[in-house]
Parts: sequence; C-alpha cells; structure tokens
Amino acid sequence: CGIVGYVGDRQAAEFLLEGLSKLEYRGYDSAGIAVYDGENIRVEKCVGRLAALREKIKDDVPQGTIGIGHTRWATHGRPSDVNAHPHTDCSGDFVVVHNGIIENYLALKEELIEKGHAFKSETDTEVVAHLLEEVYNGDFEESVREVLRRIEGSYSLVFMCRQHPDRLICTKQDNPLVIGLGDGENFIASDIPAIINRTRRTYILNDGEMAVVKKDAIEITNRKGELVTKKVFEVNWNAEAAEKGGFEHFMLKEIHEQPKAVRDTMSQRIAKDGKRIVMNELKWNADFLNNFNKVYIVACGTAYHAGLVGKFYIEKLARIPVEVDVASEFRYRDPIVDENTLLIVVSQSGETSDTLAALKESKRRGAQTLALTNVVGSSIAREADQVLYTWAGPEIAVASTKAYTTQLILFFMLALYMAEIKGTLPDDEIAHFVSMLQQVPAQISETLSDVEPIKTFAKQYGFNEDVFYIGRSLDYDVALEGALKLKEISYIHAEAYAAGELKHGTLALIVEGVPVIALATQKSVYEKTLSNIKEVKARDAVVIGIAAAGDEELEKYVDHVIHVPETDELLIPILTVVPLQLLAYYAAITRGCDVDKPRNLAKSVTVE
Ligand code: G6P
Repeated sequence: CGIVGYVGDRQAAEFLLEGLSKLEYRGYDSAGIAVYDGENIRVEKCVGRLAALREKIKDDVPQGTIGIGHTRWATHGRPSDVNAHPHTDCSGDFVVVHNGIIENYLALKEELIEKGHAFKSETDTEVVAHLLEEVYNGDFEESVREVLRRIEGSYSLVFMCRQHPDRLICTKQDNPLVIGLGDGENFIASDIPAIINRTRRTYILNDGEMAVVKKDAIEITNRKGELVTKKVFEVNWNAEAAEKGGFEHFMLKEIHEQPKAVRDTMSQRIAKDGKRIVMNELKWNADFLNNFNKVYIVACGTAYHAGLVGKFYIEKLARIPVEVDVASEFRYRDPIVDENTLLIVVSQSGETSDTLAALKESKRRGAQTLALTNVVGSSIAREADQVLYTWAGPEIAVASTKAYTTQLILFFMLALYMAEIKGTLPDDEIAHFVSMLQQVPAQISETLSDVEPIKTFAKQYGFNEDVFYIGRSLDYDVALEGALKLKEISYIHAEAYAAGELKHGTLALIVEGVPVIALATQKSVYEKTLSNIKEVKARDAVVIGIAAAGDEELEKYVDHVIHVPETDELLIPILTVVPLQLLAYYAAITRGCDVDKPRNLAKSVTVE
C-alpha cells in the first residue's frame, strides 16, 4: 500500500494525488483521499487505478489544506469502494490510512460491535478508526497512544481528527514512514518517491515513534512519550532509485523484504499460545480431509518449485499422497481428478493462464480447490473454492523471490494445520515446529547480513557458460529454484540435478573448473550427498557448498561453504534459497544484465 499526507497552506488534494501517482509503480487495487474542508473531513475513494479516483472527483475536488491519501494492495477484504482507504469511524470525525496488518482486529471488532459501532468494510483498518472514536477523550495525541497500546501487528498509520484540523498524527511499526520537511508545509509518505518532487529533507521514523505534524512544527516522541530529536535525512536519490527504496533493483529490494514478507504471512495464523496453526480462512475438519485420497499441487515457474516443497511438507507431516505438476502439462493430460481430489494451485499473481485453466478443469471434474496466491481478488483467487493469501506485498521484479519464500511458509503452515486435524503429529511436535517457524524471519535477516562472499563468488564464476546445482530431498527442490533464478536473470546455462542422478548422465558434463553449487542440509541423505560431492570434485569441479551453521564437515570436501542459520531441516529451504537468489542477482550484475526485466520474460503470463 502507499500512504501520503499533507498539511500546509496549499490545496492538499493536489499533493495527495501527485504523491499517490508517484507510488503507482508498486501496483494497487484502489485509491482514496480525505481532506478537511473547514467543517468536515471529506473522504473520496474508489476501486481501481488512481485515474478512476481522479475521474470521480474531477468536477468537485475536495478543498482544504490538510489531508491524507492511500493506495491499497488488498490483504483483508477484496478490492472494492468500501474497502478502499481512508477509513472512518461512525461519525466521520476520525479518519485513518494504514499499511500493514492489524493482527488482533477480529477481537477488537467484536468488542467494538458490542459497544454499538457499525462497520462498513471488511478491512482490519476500519477497526482502528472506530477504536480511536471509542477511546477519544478530547486529547488527540493521548487517544492515539491509547489506540497504539491496544492494536497488535505491523503498521504505518496516519490519523486525522475533525476536532484538531491543524495536525496529522502518524506512527509506524515494521512498515516504512517518512516525513518530508517543507517551508510552511509538511508531507507524510510511506515511500520517498511520493515526496521528492516537493522536498529532499526528511525525517525517517523508527518503529514505535509517533509524530504530530503541523504546517510549521513537527513533534516526535517515542513509545514512552519522551521527545525524540531526529536528524534530518537528506535524500540524494533520483526518482528511479527512490522507487527501489535505495536498492539498485527491485529484485534486491524484494530479496531484502523477505523477513517482513514471511512474518506478515505467518501473522494471524499462529495461535495465541504459539503452539498451533490457525487457518481461519479454511475451517477444515477431519471429515473434510479424510474425503481426499490425493492432493495435486499445480503451478508454473517458481510457484511450481514452491509446490515441490509443499508436497514434501504435506506428505511428511500430514501423510497424504501429493502429486505436483506444471500447469501446462497437467491441463492437457487427462489428469485423474475427481471429488476425492484436493487441488492446490499456487500463483503469485493469481493470473497465470495455464494455472487458471488447470484450476477450472479440476473444478469441472469435481475436485475441491484451494488457491495459494499473493493477489487478493485475482482471477485464481476468485475461481478457487478456498484461498490462502501470502502477504508478501507487491512483487515487481520478474524473477520471483519473496513470493517463493512466503509460499513455502504457507505450505508449511498448511501441512501443520492438516497434520493436527488428521492427528498425524503429536501436539508437542507441532508446537516445536511452530516455535522454529517464528525464528525464520530473523534467520533470513541474518542470512542477508553477509553478502560479501556471495558477491565474490558471483564475480569469480559469473562468466562461466554452465553452472550445476545439486542436492537431495528438499535440497534438490531448492536447487531447482536456484538454477531457475540464475537462468532467468544472468542467462547462464544452469541445471539442477538430484545429486543421486548425476552418475546417470550429467557427470559427463562435469569437467575442470565447472561451478557446482551443492546443497547439503538434509541429515537423512547427508552422507549420500557428500559422496556425490566427492564425485564432482574428483572431476575438478569448483564446488560451493551450502550448509547449516554448525556443519564443519562439508568444508573439508568443497572449495567454499556458505552457511545459513541452523533450523529444522524442513524449514531450511526458506534459508538456503536466499544465498542462491543473491548469487543469481550478483552474477547478473557482473554480466551487466537487466535484472528486473530479463529478456523474453514477463512477470505475469496471462496467455498460453
Ligand atoms: C512467470 C514469472 C515467474 C513466475 C511464473 C508463475 O514466468 O516470470 O517468476 O514464477 O510466471 O507466476 P505466478 O504469478 O502464477 O506465480
């Protein structure tokens, strides 16, 4: 989502619309603004592009010099006029725009409904506006503080209040928010591109900080209410760099967004006691699950690779047989699908034509269908009987990164959820997995903290003609994704092989100096993988090993090792894929390739 705010002497709507237009590159499904007109706060919003909003208000632009605006990427509630931001309380005096996820919104909503609040939308955000109205005691700042004490989750928020028309209040937790410093006017935005036409002097808010922004004064306090003195951050990025949040490419930005994307995808799906998975979207029971003798996972590209890991999870944890297929094959091969089949389609965009066709075909044959997708209200989300969303936020780079890791997280949680229903795992084991799961975001951050060795390998091997990826079990699935990343963006010929298959042909291609990326994280096949590594080493390949921290064995057999933090071996693919994404990225940079828009490829393939 995108957020903007203005307070000054000029017409607010002018900046709000301009600022939102600068955030258009991120993709969104609805837009809206709220402006104080001297008497009331007028809200105008609608589903669709910004052009639709402009058209709606073109003959009657809200007049006033303070306001907020928003472009929405749906998470809770489909894209629609009422679900668009800004959101208001019943009186219309309290108005809010929000990015992120309010995790405890359902409980708060029930409480507020009991107190007589009537809700208009399905969003988590509307709860915040009603809550502010509920706790309002005449002191705007203190009331916002009370709201912040009651909400849980990730957010950047901007509040407006009719009773205090000289100020906006904003705050953030795990989502970005900047304040642009003007002359007799100030700006608020979720991202720098929205404001760099107006000012380059900014305050970057930290988690837990709250700012009261007036036209000629800004007061920033921390969680305890103590004043914070902030340094002015001068933005020296050009507009293009600003869109990428200072990263050189969207792909790199998205790789670095993975800790948050994964955390958001888990949020609200872990029980309060931290011991179980809850899937409010599904409400499955044993009768429902016992009905299925087979699960199909169908997808394309990276989503297909996520499906391979999903198969492993569901079979291992919930003990249901799973077949994985690429959608373009599945749909034309008269698949054995009937009412006893659960079909899971995976699609970041929710628009891939082959995946959609496979879904329709399976429904026609009587299957129950579930979609895992990142885009609320997408064609696949609408077509499937049930949907689980990854909350990765918009993914812009053609090569998928954060969509993959969030799909893995979702599959793991789904498998645990199924295991509990089917009784295939004892409660303490489920609790163990859930606690490991919660460590993953920090472990991805740790993996991202040291990229220098990966840059060095990319420089060293970036000009090779061929690179091989090997692994067994889950390591093989990740190898496939690693090889795809390298092919897609660096145009190096890359192949992934099940390490045990090498001797059946591929070994003939291993000659002196050929880089082999060997993943060795799976205990049950560790020794076997080591022998395969020795096979390629014996042919003088250059081997880069990927191992879990604490593994001191692998380095004896390979040329370099990249360690990822130690976790359960089922979860380790979410970590091992990260250095492979980075390796592909830096190899592409070394070769001067157009990372975000690789030749011949498209982000969303809506034609067959
Ligand atoms: C295209 C993209 C890939 C993506 C695949 C499936 O090929 O370039 O990155 O994995 O489509 O897309 P979907 O949106 O269905 O996940």
